[in-house]
Amino acid sequence: MSMVRIETVTGGSVLPWLEDLAALRIRVFRQFPYLYDGSMDYERDYLAEYAESERGLIVLALDQDRVVGCSTGLPLAEADAAFRRPFVEAGRDLESVFYFGESVLEAEYRGRGLGHQFFDQREAHARRLGYPVTAFCAVVRPPDHPLRPPGYRVLDGFWRKRGYRPFPELQARFAWKDVDQAGETQKSLVFWLKSSEPDH
Ligand SMILES: CC(C)(COP(=O)(O)OP(=O)(O)OC[C@H]1O[C@@H](n2cnc3c(N)ncnc32)[C@H](O)[C@@H]1OP(=O)(O)O)[C@@H](O)C(=O)NCCC(=O)NCCS
Repeated sequence: MSMVRIETVTGGSVLPWLEDLAALRIRVFRQFPYLYDGSMDYERDYLAEYAESERGLIVLALDQDRVVGCSTGLPLAEADAAFRRPFVEAGRDLESVFYFGESVLEAEYRGRGLGHQFFDQREAHARRLGYPVTAFCAVVRPPDHPLRPPGYRVLDGFWRKRGYRPFPELQARFAWKDVDQAGETQKSLVFWLKSSEPDH
């Protein structure tokens, strides 16, 4: 089995990786449950936000010099309005939350602990910056979705073991084109939160 190393990049050091990361996100997010029919232009713009953020980070999983996985995070206050909105509407304090954008890994590298390392790195970064709450959101798909692969395992158990719990009242609405659809459709993404302080 090949060795994978983990490297964290922030600010301008994200830039040399943008093309590879954009292509990786498109490849992995085409699969269930995201089914995202992505475009390189959108991906470049999305990832450039991390290059512009002083407090954001991208965790890279590298096999030699090839990016086989990545995971992102930035303060929720800097995230897209669609992700801030449920917190604003619920009257929650945005400033205390560090937002995790995504974790993606090429299929052949899964199941060897890299997903845990992505969380470890991002949680340590959020702690260093003084954020008491870390959060991410996950798309909701019906159990009988026609493109759900047989034997697909949801990641809920993994997330719960990491100390996260879902907040169904915090749902982001976001539109993208599914691989089997002609145009964009609205998706609901439920937030999962973990807090190091009881009152958050
Ligand atoms: C999320 C993802 C990065 C996790 O990576 P990973 O390296 O396989 O995770 P790990 O090996 O650290 O395993 C994490 C836990 O998930 C479990 N797991 C492993 N493979 C799994 C699978 N196919 N389905 C569900 N859970 C799985 C492991 O048992 C482990 O739990 P444990 O700590 O109880 O042993 C990877 O599955 C992925 O890229 N998925 C597609 C994109 C996605 O859905 N991302 C999440 C939302 S952005």
